[in-house]
Formats: sequence, C-alpha cells, structure tokens
Amino acid sequence: MNKGEYQLRVSMIVAVDNNYLMGSDNGGLPWKGIEKDKNHFRKYVASKTLLVGRKTFEEMDGWFQEHHTPYVLTRRIGYQTNSHTHVFNEIQDAIDYAKEKTVEEIVVCGGSEIYRLALQYTTTIILTILDSCFRVGGEPKFFPSIEELKSFGFEKYKEEYFKPSVQNEVGMSIIWLNRDRHLVPGLRK
Ligand SMILES: NC(=O)c1ccc[n+]([C@@H]2O[C@H](COP(=O)([O-])OP(=O)(O)OC[C@H]3O[C@@H](n4cnc5c(N)ncnc54)[C@H](OP(=O)(O)O)[C@@H]3O)[C@@H](O)[C@H]2O)c1
Repeated sequence: MNKGEYQLRVSMIVAVDNNYLMGSDNGGLPWKGIEKDKNHFRKYVASKTLLVGRKTFEEMDGWFQEHHTPYVLTRRIGYQTNSHTHVFNEIQDAIDYAKEKTVEEIVVCGGSEIYRLALQYTTTIILTILDSCFRVGGEPKFFPSIEELKSFGFEKYKEEYFKPSVQNEVGMSIIWLNRDRHLVPGLRK
C-alpha cells in the first residue's frame, strides 16, 4: 500500500435494547447471549484489531483468539494480561500505534466508557437494536441514541430486521451508520 494513501478506519460494534441500554456497572450484558447477534459480532470482528476498556476485556477473558489482537485501555500503570494484547493508558496512543502499524480498521467493542471516548475517532457504527426492554442490577449504562448520533454527523445507510426465532427470542435490527471522515475530529490529530 502506498503510505500516502493509508487511512486508519475506526468503527464501533454495539448491541442495545429499545432504550439504548447496553450494560451496567455490575458488568455483564443485560440479556443472555442472543445467537444471531453473537454470530454477527464474531463475523464482523474476525481478524480485526479490537479496542476494549479494561472492564470489558476482563469480562471477555478467554474469548479472544490470536488473530484478534485486542488493544486494552486502562489508567492503571503496568497493567498486564495473560494473553496477546497491547495495553494503552491513552486512546490517542492506541490510535497512533495502529497508524504506525498501518492497521486498516480498529473495531471499538466497548464498554460504555470506551464507546464514548472513541466516538471522536469513529466513522462507522454497527448498532444492533434488540426489540425489547431489559433491566439490570447496578447503574445502567447506555449508548447514545440514533438522534444523538445524528447530531454528531452520523447517518443511517443500511438496516436489516430479523424476526424472533427459536434461537433468538427477540426481534432485532442491525443498523449501519456512517459519517464523513472530515467530521471525525480525532483522526485529524
Ligand atoms: N452491549 C454491548 O454491545 C456491550 C459491549 C461491550 C461491553 N458491554 C457492557 O458494558 C459494561 C462495561 O462498560 P464500562 O463502561 O463499565 O467499562 P469499560 O468501558 O469496558 O471499561 C472501563 C475502563 O476503561 C478504562 N478507561 C476508561 N476511560 C479511560 C481513559 N480515558 N483512559 C484510559 N483508560 C480508560 C478504565 O480502566 P481502569 O479501571 O483499569 O483504569 C475504566 O475502568 C458491561 O456491562 C459490559 O457487559 C456491552
């Protein structure tokens, strides 16, 4: 690839319920694994570089495989993991490292703190909306609504609906949002 043409792409993949609930400070997803969404997640992130917060990383412990190369964000100095990861204390350092390695795409995989932090770098959001309202113990964590995302320049360009089935008790929409690269403040740095 010609170095002059190289551009890092940052995308986000997330699942929410009808209220944009995506997790809680007690950890864990508000729902039990929904096969259709799990498969969609696995397929999208395969062989990509993933950015996760320390809490989500620990929750997903054992899930990552060698080809995933997770970047883990923590404020802890000297944080170490047992697996093949890169640990960063600043999101900008993770972005710069990816650029240095000419990584094609970073996929931000949560949790809520990291989604909010990474929004300034993101051009694509792949949003699953589960057609139900869940409850969580602890403080609920939300993802920005589509209306909020529109105010940051995101526009919906694709939507697929999947009816409830034996494997997936709830219906779900997978919505793809995009925004122009010139609206992405973080990548200009
Ligand atoms: N629905 C979904 O698609 C989805 C996806 C992923 C996760 N989740 C859920 O989200 C919840 C977890 O989200 P969360 O917000 O509590 O945690 P998180 O975003 O996974 O991780 C938060 C941690 O990231 C580090 N961090 C945050 N801001 C930072 C910064 N500016 N610089 C450096 N490090 C920083 C800190 O780690 P240290 O404490 O180590 O300093 C912080 O405690 C869980 O319920 C999980 O199941 C849902």
